[in-house]
Amino acid sequence: MSDTDKVVEELYVLARSASDNAYSPYSGARVGACVVDDKGNVYSGCNVENASYGLTQCAERNALAAAVAAGMKPGTAHTLLICATGFEILAPCGACRQVMSELLAGDALIVSCHSETQYQSWALAELLPDPFKLS
Ligand code: THU
Repeated sequence: MSDTDKVVEELYVLARSASDNAYSPYSGARVGACVVDDKGNVYSGCNVENASYGLTQCAERNALAAAVAAGMKPGTAHTLLICATGFEILAPCGACRQVMSELLAGDALIVSCHSETQYQSWALAELLPDPFKLS
């Protein structure tokens, strides 16, 4: 079993459960995400849409915001897993990639699941090779 398989085994159910809470009356897409920090704490989020469409918040950014609010130190989370049943494989949007690059560990693994057996993974640096940074 690969490291990625183990991540899916551990986190898929949690991200799937977070996706059940999605508020997505406009797209119908249910997305859940889980972040794990180096203490083993797991933080979850789901997508939250709005009638003013541009205010929609993605599951990944909501999971990262929940992590920060709960005390996760930026750079200490090495894994983020997404569960998106309404898509083939959801490749994270550009805004989420930028936020991941600031809050996850530089060598973080991102796994996106269509199901418990169909998933794709990337290194954070593959998703966003040259993130915007101040200074
Ligand atoms: N969505 C996410 O939750 N994560 C992404 O990386 C891309 C898109 C959500 C936002 C919206 O509720 C729905 O998927 C369709 O765009």
